[in-house]
Amino acid sequence: MNVARVIFGRKQCYSTSSKGWIQRQARDPFVKAAKSNQFRARSAFKLVQLNDKYRVLRNGYTVIDCGAAPGGWTQVAAKKVQGKGLVIGIDLLPIDPIPGAHLIQGNFMYPQTQASVRTILGDRKADLVCSDMAPSFSGNHVADHARSMELCESALMFAQTTLKPGGAFIAKFLMGGSEVEFRKKLQTLFGKVKQEKPEASRKKSTEGFFVALNYLPSK
Ligand SMILES: C[S@@+](CC[C@H](N)C(=O)[O-])C[C@H]1O[C@@H](n2cnc3c(N)ncnc32)[C@H](O)[C@@H]1O
Repeated sequence: MNVARVIFGRKQCYSTSSKGWIQRQARDPFVKAAKSNQFRARSAFKLVQLNDKYRVLRNGYTVIDCGAAPGGWTQVAAKKVQGKGLVIGIDLLPIDPIPGAHLIQGNFMYPQTQASVRTILGDRKADLVCSDMAPSFSGNHVADHARSMELCESALMFAQTTLKPGGAFIAKFLMGGSEVEFRKKLQTLFGKVKQEKPEASRKKSTEGFFVALNYLPSK
């Protein structure tokens, strides 16, 4: 079976019938755990593990999840904020409904998409802005890294206008060099910044995550 996804107007096709892919899925403990926890994606465990370490999700929190499809992180966040909080998930792709979450289909880099998020937020400020956004892989690592850092910048600019003082920011990036500058920028805006590779992130993947805590808006 070929699974086709349309990202940034381009079709990304990848085979899920290769022997290697099937074997890897069968062996992957997070694929099994995702099924038994009714998570839509194994990636849900990356947020679970980051939250176990940093406690960025709590009852009553307001969370903005950028790059949310198919909805694993949004499911985790909606469960943790327990109906008293607010969770908004945004993606280029449609997301099937998730109880307790508002879902927006759109390009997060477009002002109109961010305006839709602000409309739902109203007067609220966010406790957590997280981004698991990933570009459509071109095969050119330099270009993919640059695109990934653009997505990080976009999430951070949005976070700077929506986070509460003391709020948290998580962003996935593809390693490639310029994450060093991004980290320095985070250090000017947050009290604590860590780089993480949660166990659920595949070893072969060049992805990493910045976890920035204690937003300092006056800095
Ligand atoms: C790794 S997936 C996210 C998985 C999700 N966190 C989960 O647990 O189900 C990355 C997502 O980023 C989305 N994405 C990439 N660029 C985006 C953009 N500019 N605006 C919104 N979503 C974007 C892609 O469509 C894709 O669904």
